[in-house]
Amino acid sequence: MARSERQDASGSVMQNGLAARFHATRALTEALVGPLSDADATVQSMEDASPAKWHLAHTTWFWETFVLREHARGYRLHRDDWPFLFNSYYEAEGPRIARFSRGMLSRPTLDEVLEWRSVVNEAMAPLLDDPALASVISLGVAHEQQHIELLLTDIKHALFCNPLGPAMWEGIPTPAAAPASLGWHQHPGGIAMIGDDGATFAFDNEGPRHRVLLERFALADRLVTNAEWEAFIADGGYADARLWLADGWAWVQREGIGAPLYWREDEHFTHQGWQVRDPHMPVTHISHFEADAFATWAGARLPTEFEWEAIAAAHDPAAGNQLDRATPPLPVGSPGLFGDCWQFTRSAYLPYPGFRPAEGAVGEYNGKFMSGQVVLRGASCATVSGHSRASYRNFFYPHQRWQFTGLRLAKDA
Ligand SMILES: [Fe+2]
Repeated sequence: MARSERQDASGSVMQNGLAARFHATRALTEALVGPLSDADATVQSMEDASPAKWHLAHTTWFWETFVLREHARGYRLHRDDWPFLFNSYYEAEGPRIARFSRGMLSRPTLDEVLEWRSVVNEAMAPLLDDPALASVISLGVAHEQQHIELLLTDIKHALFCNPLGPAMWEGIPTPAAAPASLGWHQHPGGIAMIGDDGATFAFDNEGPRHRVLLERFALADRLVTNAEWEAFIADGGYADARLWLADGWAWVQREGIGAPLYWREDEHFTHQGWQVRDPHMPVTHISHFEADAFATWAGARLPTEFEWEAIAAAHDPAAGNQLDRATPPLPVGSPGLFGDCWQFTRSAYLPYPGFRPAEGAVGEYNGKFMSGQVVLRGASCATVSGHSRASYRNFFYPHQRWQFTGLRLAKDA
């Protein structure tokens, strides 16, 4: 019995949801590349970002490698030489092309990759109701949902790097409503239970569930907006070393940083091309360094990941502005703790007490990245609805900002 599947009163596994999630997730990935040419889907703008075509193929490699090759009787790899191209970082699965060579894959073509996807979808269909495979299929769905978000943020960066600033989707974004004045969720402190409670699928890095001692604190009831960020800039926020962590100040100086990624004058780059920046919209595409400096400037601080989870446990993780179909993602300012932007915490991405990576190659999924990264919580406008939860731990290096990253302030009570 996989812990990732709920049981109904008769004890049988409720599999319908999983098969439906598989098909919906695969279809959403493909719908998202609908607006892209083969050339759009092939370019790689930086080492951190992968081509859209590579995401389509890598997620398919995952199903072939971890489900079909092991469990589908008589299944033969679609192409014997493709695992070398589409293995991401699994040492146990052998050698692979260098990460920054993914943009050199002019072949296979986009059509050939889409054909492979349909072959794999067909082969997967008879396995989706097998209770013995529910755990790995849940992992594969969650994995593909993560790559949907990366596909969207990576193609945004690639289109931004084109001097023509092409739009992936036409149209003008709907203006965000003016946010209410800032309020605070108060927490009295005490012992909080943190981590995966076993009720739904969770990644291994979300457990074991354990106790954490919290002091009294308060967490803002909304995200920081573009207008508030402009006030930070106007007040010399990027020029005042006293506001910055040492590594952050060195980064600002070295890279010549003076605004969030994708800002120019009063515009920002979106999946709908260059648009006038909406002052009411939550600020996004900031680094951990910038989030920390802003919080210091605002007389507040970043929350710890445990403080964030203690408040979020009472909120609906599927609410807020998240992705449910192939439309341009953009923060709008939604209520609740989830949606719009991933939120920086001040917590280092470290194993919880008693953490052990899973056995086998999938044990490489999370644990080996627990070095030098910071935890982000919540969900963004590019996160597939239903993917995240209160215990979910996203993680990036403190200088990275091509994801939909934002900021929710915290303070000591
Ligand atoms: Fe992956």
